[in-house]
Amino acid sequence: MAPKIWTGLVLLNALSGVSAFWRMECRGRTTVSRMDPIVSLGTTAQHAHVVHGSSGFSESADYDALTGGSCTSCAATEDLSAYWTPAMYFAHSDGTFELVEQVGGMLSYYLLRDPKNNVKAFPKGFRMIAGDTNRRNYTLGDVSQPDPGQSSWESLGQTTQDALEQRALGFNCLNYNKDAEASLYRHFMPDKAYLDANCPDGLRLELAFPSCWNGKDLDSTNHRSHMAYPDLVQDGACPEGFETRLVTLFYETIWNTAAFASSDGYFVMANGDPTGFGYHGDFMTGWDEDFLQSAVEQCTNLSGVLSDCPLFTLQDEATQNECKLESMPALLKVENVIGGALDTLNSLPGNVAIEFGPEPASAGKGSGKATTTTSSSYAAPTLTYQPASSSSLGGIFLQDTSTASPTSTSSAASTLVPSVKAAAAQDSTSAPATTAAPTLSDSGVQYQVVSTEYRTNGALVQEIVYEEAVVYVTEDTVTTVTVSPPVVKSEHKKQRRDHLVRHRHHAGGRLI
Ligand SMILES: *[C@@H]1O[C@H](CO)[C@@H](O)[C@H](O)[C@H]1NC(C)=O
Ligand SMILES: *[C@@H]1O[C@H](CO)[C@@H](O)[C@H](O)[C@H]1NC(C)=O
Repeated sequence: MAPKIWTGLVLLNALSGVSAFWRMECRGRTTVSRMDPIVSLGTTAQHAHVVHGSSGFSESADYDALTGGSCTSCAATEDLSAYWTPAMYFAHSDGTFELVEQVGGMLSYYLLRDPKNNVKAFPKGFRMIAGDTNRRNYTLGDVSQPDPGQSSWESLGQTTQDALEQRALGFNCLNYNKDAEASLYRHFMPDKAYLDANCPDGLRLELAFPSCWNGKDLDSTNHRSHMAYPDLVQDGACPEGFETRLVTLFYETIWNTAAFASSDGYFVMANGDPTGFGYHGDFMTGWDEDFLQSAVEQCTNLSGVLSDCPLFTLQDEATQNECKLESMPALLKVENVIGGALDTLNSLPGNVAIEFGPEPASAGKGSGKATTTTSSSYAAPTLTYQPASSSSLGGIFLQDTSTASPTSTSSAASTLVPSVKAAAAQDSTSAPATTAAPTLSDSGVQYQVVSTEYRTNGALVQEIVYEEAVVYVTEDTVTTVTVSPPVVKSEHKKQRRDHLVRHRHHAGGRLI
């Protein structure tokens, strides 16, 4: 096994102490069906969603219905919210459709990001949508190139809400034999040839929600305009009129696109979007507001692990998986949303038209077949697989590709919090070494979690937590330090690597 290191590079504001977060795991899916109580209240929705969270979800669910749910498919029983995104389908070349397998449920990160450290809980009844289901193009320059550095966004005119929304989508090509791409690195759906060639572990769809609230409306006509993105999508300043900083939600959903490697066809989201530009997600809070506010204030362990917050009551994965909707409309109970050999699906559920853009989708129901352009005339952009690095600031998680890494040889089964047994990388012989200058003892070093990641490989689910030592040196030089041995906790594999930082003498301590 070729050793490789996975190292997170600390984000700028991770160093200023406001990077606390927790990762809400929702291993269970309550339903996949055409329901959307935000957009299509009380009626059948245009397209199929995968839904996670409260069993009280329905076509007409409101806050009381969610909080009245008897269970949640997420790990913390206090979380009766609802989280939903379009389902992903594979359009076979014979004209049939098949739901792509979702891997590991979904994760909703609760990122507590605010330069003023004054993050507020979602108020009772709050709901929002991120992304635009009708979008079919990218207007911020060449989408086949990595984003320009964040510091240039403003001068490039890329801090408008329209621009930030397009940067809030990510299509992360998963290849667990390589160093990971940064979150929100690629803003479109790669085509099948690219996925087949580069992404053997599937595709992770990512969606950052806006976190700047207008302070008064629980919802708005388009379900978006009561919220705004800060000027760096997840970080930065809130626009005028949207100064109340709420929790930043960040959804991750992994789709097993690799299962279709030997099939002919293309991937399309349930809303008829094969481009990815129309990816979106919905959120309705089902938290008790006071409880969530306590969690925001107290669950500040940088590990991101739910069990490190004493407030949450956790349930295991099997229990999360048992939680299903309490009521389902008769029509939708029998609607075929899965497809496949046993139950042929000849269109996307709801007969949604597939529209390739670049003009916005008509949002109408259609033939279920390609309309505005055909799949053969649409050419998806290509953005080369690139491990995250310090030069690609913009994602939540950044990784350095330098030296050696955790390799897993164990076959632990997945458990409540997916865990991994001590693996080969844990013995000191595989601990990475750097060309060393002064050795710092652990006591002088502060570790911060910079990245966490789930990898699923058959029955083995690993959680890998990347930690990095932050070393403050007072000269304007970089000091190399030796690497401390990785530390493994009973449930989480931890990889530590000392990282070099340069201490600039700014008042705010901006560190690079
Ligand atoms: C954070 O959680 C870890 C366990 O993952 C624990 O060892 C550590 O003491 C906690 N830190 C704080 C500040 O509570
Ligand atoms: C690109 O998408 C936007 C938003 O949907 C739309 O307003 C614009 O007309 C589209 N551009 C083209 C060239 O179709």
